[in-house]
Amino acid sequence: MQATKYIWFNGKLVPWKSAKIHVLSHSLHYGTAAFEGIRMYDTKKGPAIFHLKRHMERLIFSAKSLGMDLPYTLPQLMQAAVDTVSKNKLKSCYIRPIAYYGFGEVRVLPTNCPIEVAIAAWPWGAYLGDEPARITVVKTLRIHPQTLRVKAKISGHYVNSMLAGREATDRGFTEALQLDYKGNIAEGPGENFFIVKGKTLTTPALGSILPGITRESVITLARDLGYKVVERAVTVKDALSADECFFTGTAAEVTAIASIDNKKMKTASGSSTDADAYSIGPVTKQIREEFLKITRGENPKYKKWLTFVKEY
Ligand SMILES: Cc1ncc(COP(=O)(O)O)c(C=O)c1O
Repeated sequence: MQATKYIWFNGKLVPWKSAKIHVLSHSLHYGTAAFEGIRMYDTKKGPAIFHLKRHMERLIFSAKSLGMDLPYTLPQLMQAAVDTVSKNKLKSCYIRPIAYYGFGEVRVLPTNCPIEVAIAAWPWGAYLGDEPARITVVKTLRIHPQTLRVKAKISGHYVNSMLAGREATDRGFTEALQLDYKGNIAEGPGENFFIVKGKTLTTPALGSILPGITRESVITLARDLGYKVVERAVTVKDALSADECFFTGTAAEVTAIASIDNKKMKTASGSSTDADAYSIGPVTKQIREEFLKITRGENPKYKKWLTFVKEY
């Protein structure tokens, strides 16, 4: 990971090395931080942050679910992200805002713990690589919606993601696919999941998943492209009999899935038996290309999803 010069830290841009927290910070001990992952893309009209407002709205929502009232408004948080990327002279990057309980007292309820906010940004490439992912259904179930606030993006939830991801990579796969407590497909540790059958895209309904901003964008885009999109329970059997599957996420963007537990997805010809011979399916390819065009400002219809940043 490439360090940049400045981090926005409790209202000020400070040198990267100075953005430090106390070792007794509440969120370090109890996983009580709300955070976001946002991408900024290089476009012909300068750098543009994808869905900045939606991400900051979700940050505020996630913080609220922990009882945190952030000391900054939505416009202030959006401006802080813009200031962070501008001051670091970035053209394309990943942006990580985080709101956490700092040091006050060490006890489960964050009594007397200050609410602190930081925003960092750094250059970042493809998350799951450029190749279609080879995924596995892991034993680690996605968190139960009555155990944690699954609609919120909370640091403690990522213990579940980390264990699932590690289970997959330890067995040589690119990424995990997690089931929900009912045994249906939920999502990846950091991605939402879609299956394609003919002209229909199906994605697990909300309930046991993070309502992804990329998921929401892909649903809109696919409908605009003439696909039918259904949100319902999706089983592993549904996925294995689909024409194509893909992941969506800020980090993963739109990532094709080559195989699930070494069972190859059908390719365009429907006949691939060799993982290496997998070529990205036509629907995933179209959605991925159209999505990337939007992020690069090449589709005026979706310009409202972008916040343009002045180049320095
Ligand atoms: C568990 C989980 N699901 C889905 C996603 C995709 O969400 P988004 O598209 O908002 O990045 C993420 C990434 O934030 C995630 O961590």
